[in-house]
Parts: sequence; C-alpha cells; structure tokens
Amino acid sequence: MVWLIRCAEQNGTTFSPLFEQILAWPPEMPVPLMGCFGEPLDLLCRSIYSIPVAICNRIAGHVKKSAKEVRRQGSSFRLTAFGAFLMGAMPPGGRNVTERKTRTNLVHGGTRRSQYGELSEAIFLTQGFSYDTAEQAEERFIESGADEYIYARYGNPTVRMFEERIALLEGTEDAFATASGMAAVNGALVSMLRAGDHVVAARALFGSCLYILENILPRFGVEVDFVDGADLVQWQEALRPDTKAVFFESMSNPTLDLVDIQAVSELAHTVGATVVVDNVFSTPVYSRAIAQGADVVVYSATKHIDGQGRALGGVVLGKKEFIRGTLEPYMKHTGGSMSPFTAWIMLKGLETIDLRVRAQSETALAIATALQGHAGLDRVLYPGLQSHPQYELTQRQLGAGGTMIALDLKGGKAAAFAFLNALQIVLISNNLGDAKSIATHPATTTHQRLNAEQRDSLGITDGLIRLSCGLEDTTDLIDDIQHALDAVKV
Ligand SMILES: Cc1ncc(COP(=O)(O)O)c(C=O)c1O
Repeated sequence: MVWLIRCAEQNGTTFSPLFEQILAWPPEMPVPLMGCFGEPLDLLCRSIYSIPVAICNRIAGHVKKSAKEVRRQGSSFRLTAFGAFLMGAMPPGGRNVTERKTRTNLVHGGTRRSQYGELSEAIFLTQGFSYDTAEQAEERFIESGADEYIYARYGNPTVRMFEERIALLEGTEDAFATASGMAAVNGALVSMLRAGDHVVAARALFGSCLYILENILPRFGVEVDFVDGADLVQWQEALRPDTKAVFFESMSNPTLDLVDIQAVSELAHTVGATVVVDNVFSTPVYSRAIAQGADVVVYSATKHIDGQGRALGGVVLGKKEFIRGTLEPYMKHTGGSMSPFTAWIMLKGLETIDLRVRAQSETALAIATALQGHAGLDRVLYPGLQSHPQYELTQRQLGAGGTMIALDLKGGKAAAFAFLNALQIVLISNNLGDAKSIATHPATTTHQRLNAEQRDSLGITDGLIRLSCGLEDTTDLIDDIQHALDAVKV
C-alpha cells in the first residue's frame, strides 16, 4: 500500500501538522520522503515557512535518512507544483529489499540516481563536495548522515553504491571499499590490532599477505603464529587468551586447500578473537563465510569482482560497528580508499559476477575432469572433484569447486615452462578470476620470495601450474591445455 499526503497550498493544509508527523515518526520505520521543487528542504522550510532553524535541520536530517531507504525499496516519488509533499513508500511489514534475490541485488542494489535519472550508475568523479550553508558544513564535519559526503577519501556516492551492492551479496551489514586487495587486508588487520596483541594465521598465504603478517605486524609489537590451516588441532593449540585475530585464506593460493571457516571460527570465538577471512579464491558468489562464523571478509576486487582485468580494488565486509567504527577511521586517515572510477568498474563487474563465476566454475570442473589421469601430470588439484580429499568440505562451505585449478606437471620447471610456452589461448600472467584464462608458474613468480623449504611445505613444486579458468569456450580450453601438455617432452 502506498499513501500520499500532500500539503501546503495545494490542499490548503498548513505545514506544521505535517512536520509534527515527521518529527514523531518512529526512527525504525522506513518511510517518509519529502521533496520540494528543487530547493534544499531546510532552506525552503526556513525561507517560505519560517520554521525555526533547529526544527528545519531535524526535519532535513530525518528525511534524508529515510530517502535512501525509500529509494532502495524501489518506490517512485515526484515533485509537486506547490510546496512540499510527503509520500510514504512502505507501510510497516511491507516488502523489504532484502527479500530480493541475489541477481536482482547485483544489478540494482545500492543504486543512487541523480536528478537526470541516468540508467547506468553515475561516476561522481569529484574529490570533494560543496555545502548549501556554513552551518551544513559544520554539521557534516560533526556527524555525516547517510549520503552526506565531505571528501572522496572519506566516501563518495559511486563508492557507496559499490559498498552497498557488495554488502547485499555477501550478506553483511556494511562494507568499505579500498584501493586494492592489499589495502583491504592491511586495513582489516592493522585497524583492529595494537602492540601486545597476538594473531594466529594460516601458513599458506599470498605473498603480500604473508609480508604483512611476517614483517609488518611484528614491527609494531604484534606477535603472529602460523599454523597449517587444515589442521584444527594446530589452530586450537595456537589460540591464546590474548589472541585478537585469526587470519586465513579460505581457499589457499596456489594449492587450493580449504580452511574450514565454521570450525576455525568456533575455536577462535572461544577466546574472543575476530575471524578475518581472505575469500578471494572462494569468490563472493560462493561465499557463505559470515553465516559460517567469520566476522570480517576481505576481497581483492581486482579478481572476480572486476573480472575483466581493468582495475585494482578491494573491499572489507562485516558488521557496521567494525566497518564504520574501527576500519573507516583508519582507512580515511591513511588514504587507502577506492577511487570513484574504480568503484564504477566494480559496480559493473558485480552486475555480471554471478553469471561469470558460475560459468567459470563449470568450465574449471570440466577441465579438471578431462585432465584427471593425464600421463604428463602428477596431480590435478581441484576441490570440486569428487576425488579431492576436501570435496565434502568444499560442498558444505561453497557448494562448488570455484574457478581455479592447480596442475602438477611431471618434469619440474622445464616441463612447466614448456607447457606455458605451448599454450595458445590461455595467457601466461599472474592475475586470476578474469574472463581470460590465465596460467601462472607460482614457484618462479607469485611465490618466488619463499625459499625452497617453505615452498615444499606448501606443496608448491617446480612443476606446479595455477590455472584460472575464464569465459572462453570450454572445449577450446581443454584442447589448448591438452595440446600444450602433449608438447612437453621430458
Ligand atoms: C588471496 C589474495 N589476497 C589478496 C591479494 C591482493 O590483491 P590486490 O592485488 O588487489 O592488492 C591477492 C592478489 O593476488 C590474492 O591472491
């Protein structure tokens, strides 16, 4: 049911009863939106209706907070010829945006439209914002309401659209978008830790994540212990009363070992530690990390979220209290925020992420299945294969095997290089989650910094190839990979 109250000159009612209604509106009810022909509401009230400034500001604040909610409900509103109008979008108990399905949220979630009604999301390519009055500027610096911006390092409407859309996908209260995946990992950890804290992390980590845990945090008095992520006994033994955070990649790079999010979260919560999950390989499409107990989820948006190799970005997701209370002050004062242009790219990426990642995952399963038992391979590592030791956990945690495969070639580095050099469709690169299929030799690129002993302990052999499956035709990819394997002479 939609209800509408018009007021002012049009129907002869006075403004004040309407304002009394607004002021008395229960804050938890997502209703009134007030518009007035082009003028900022508080100015209009002040100049035409001589409403005291304090009341105007309260009304304007109240209406602005509701406006976002009303737009998210998908209701329309319009401006009337005289005076202001108030249009209720949703009665208590009405349909809520969270009832919408994932694909709908990925296309429409978080959208804000300017006065031009643009179809594609606007890029607010501005470093700052102007204020209607000096009082408004002062107030905004004391406390910015929803959709009240100050400076792009603090927030921006295009970035906010991306944050809201990805928070809907992940099922978290809030999100903060960052300049890269590493800005997200660093921000999530450093913003919550202080000297004297203890952290437990899985040993199998992307090189830059390892650098933060091994080199940066200890420099500031944070003690870090590493465990084998799949071994719950090691997690249990490493946790201490002063453990403030646990950190792991839910699917490790490059050997695709899963960490049981639910089990590790339960253990971590017994000592009150915050569980931070780097979920890049699991992808936001298959992630259920929050429902499984994680407190904070981090993505390199550079990977599946963009999915087309265009921009670096990252995002941290979690409870509003953590995102706005702990992380945001750290990020906005240290400069790791996402640019509006990148946010627009990532918004566009989210529109198609569900289709892309599911197709890439199906392709990965087909490739892994076709390559099983190939004479040139020691191992095909893909968690979506029934023969994989963590198949059950993969199904419970993600429901699919994801977009990545690892192939262990017989013949070490020489075989791996011969294979890479024989590929004709799959590209040699070190990105992943892209529309283009990509092959990487971790031992000489992404994991080169590790010594031989460390690589051995993580299962990174000289023959290991990491394969990110793209959107090309599956049979073309299988042909390309098989042809390249056949070309390896060792
Ligand atoms: C698991 C993991 N975490 C974090 C990152 C860092 O992301 P970015 O390159 O966007 O900073 C990467 C990059 O490959 C990654 O694989």
